[in-house]
Amino acid sequence: MATEPLLVAENLHLRFGTTVALDSASVAVHAGEVLALMGPSGSGKSTLLHCLAGILHPDAGRVTYAGRDLTAMHDSERSALRRTELGLVFQFGQLVPELTCLENVALPLRLNGAPRRAALRSAAAWLERLEVSDVAGKRPGQVSGGQGQRVAVARSLVTRPRVVFADEPTGALDSLNGERVMQLFVAAARETGAAVVLVTHEARVAAYSDHEAVVRDGRVRTMEHVR
Ligand SMILES: Nc1ncnc2c1ncn2[C@@H]1O[C@H](COP(=O)(O)OP(=O)(O)OP(=O)(O)O)[C@@H](O)[C@H]1O
Ligand SMILES: [Mg+2]
Repeated sequence: MATEPLLVAENLHLRFGTTVALDSASVAVHAGEVLALMGPSGSGKSTLLHCLAGILHPDAGRVTYAGRDLTAMHDSERSALRRTELGLVFQFGQLVPELTCLENVALPLRLNGAPRRAALRSAAAWLERLEVSDVAGKRPGQVSGGQGQRVAVARSLVTRPRVVFADEPTGALDSLNGERVMQLFVAAARETGAAVVLVTHEARVAAYSDHEAVVRDGRVRTMEHVR
């Protein structure tokens, strides 16, 4: 028996001025699965991801998370949900430059009210899981792109979210580094049971996913089960 999807976007429409970014985009994500959003530049992938994560509000259509209408929620309710049940990894500029890598990973726990020592302990375990314990005391400006990306992945998973969103998580990395970050990311997400929605241009990255959705002209054109 098929289970209900955890996250559903139905007929999303979104314009930026006269640009139609989403034109009746629909997609569904099941608990624990990895969904890759593929498609040409400007097709609406990031916009769709941001709507799914409750960061952007569609002009029309609906996003439902665990049966709750994300589009109808108050901002405060949606932010609380983002802090506790959703995780985010972006390509650039996601770490707080003034904090060490360890503190960056601990930050979401601290924001959720965890005591400092417990938060730092969990953060250290996640850095170890992503094989970057050695940069714990460094600031983001002092680490390589690949290390920074691993720290960002650790930070997105530290709260054990039910869905992690990643916009081209390895886009800035060379292929060997990107491959390793992707392996660690997907393995860690699968271990915690988190669903992953990721945007990528690379078929190589999409190979780690369960489903692949191709976005074209603001719409999800095909949805394929890849494994
Ligand atoms: N903040 C914005 N203001 C105006 N137009 C925007 C904005 N964000 C996106 N757009 C436009 O909306 C369309 C979809 O953009 P989106 O960022 O979702 O594409 P994408 O598929 O993620 O592309 P890429 O692969 O290059 O990241 C594009 O035409 C883009 O120019
Ligand atoms: Mg994009």
